Amino acid sequence: MDWGMRNRLARMFQPASGNSVMLAVDHGYFMGPTRRLEKPAETIAPLAPYADALALTRGVLRNCVPPTCATPIVLRVSGGVTVLKEDLSDEAITTGIADAARLNACAVALSVFVGAPHEHSSLVNLGTLVDQGEAASIPVLAITAVGKELEKRDARYLALACRVSAELGAHVVKTYYCEDFGKVVEGCPVPLVVAGGPKLDSDRAALELAHHAIADGAKGIDMGRNIWQSDHPVAMLKALRSIVHERATVREALDVLEAERAHPTPPPVRVAV
Ligand code: 5RP
Repeated sequence: MDWGMRNRLARMFQPASGNSVMLAVDHGYFMGPTRRLEKPAETIAPLAPYADALALTRGVLRNCVPPTCATPIVLRVSGGVTVLKEDLSDEAITTGIADAARLNACAVALSVFVGAPHEHSSLVNLGTLVDQGEAASIPVLAITAVGKELEKRDARYLALACRVSAELGAHVVKTYYCEDFGKVVEGCPVPLVVAGGPKLDSDRAALELAHHAIADGAKGIDMGRNIWQSDHPVAMLKALRSIVHERATVREALDVLEAERAHPTPPPVRVAV
């Protein structure tokens, strides 16, 4: 693997723990102004210092994130369909690798839709993006989308989607947590990170999800709504960091959450690479 590729991966996955806490704020690319992400700049600013990477589109990056931001960028480069359509799988590559390089992206991300009507084109898109990413030394994160077909969120289906993504060359795969998640990890030869999905009933439930995923072998999280739709987003992000990087228990993470709510601490200073 080229130095540039390894360097980009090392900026996202913290060398000390080997894991990553990515903040997903890319939902607008097909959902529009999602609750509590209506003004992306306001949602992102207080959270960015605590994320190991920001997952977003070029439009939000250019318009809502200052170029002084030192948090690595995972650039979503697929799209082309919205929640107004029944079938969400008809995506194409919507941002070129040259623009990703201009934006100093640490990785590019696209969705694959295994089992959906446009499975074939989404997988071919992944292959194309991996070719472009390898040439530019930019890693590719494949997002195993389940779209509206939530019933497919089981280990057999997700293991298939993750393995296929890795076989086609994805450097990192994002998927959902499920029962028997260890089987999904086992079958995937590249690092897996988990999404949170729609907002759960409580902060505790989201911390439990992250804890189970890390215990089962995930290399991190790429979570959105369960952070910025929480009533305490910064405290929630810090609590999740304690699980992902320090292997805190759910009880310990809840203590971090409570302590942070009571006495917020200033953000760390990050040196831009
Ligand atoms: C949108 C995405 C999201 O980034 C992903 O689902 C993570 O966000 P959340 O934790 O809110 O599910 O890929 O298509």
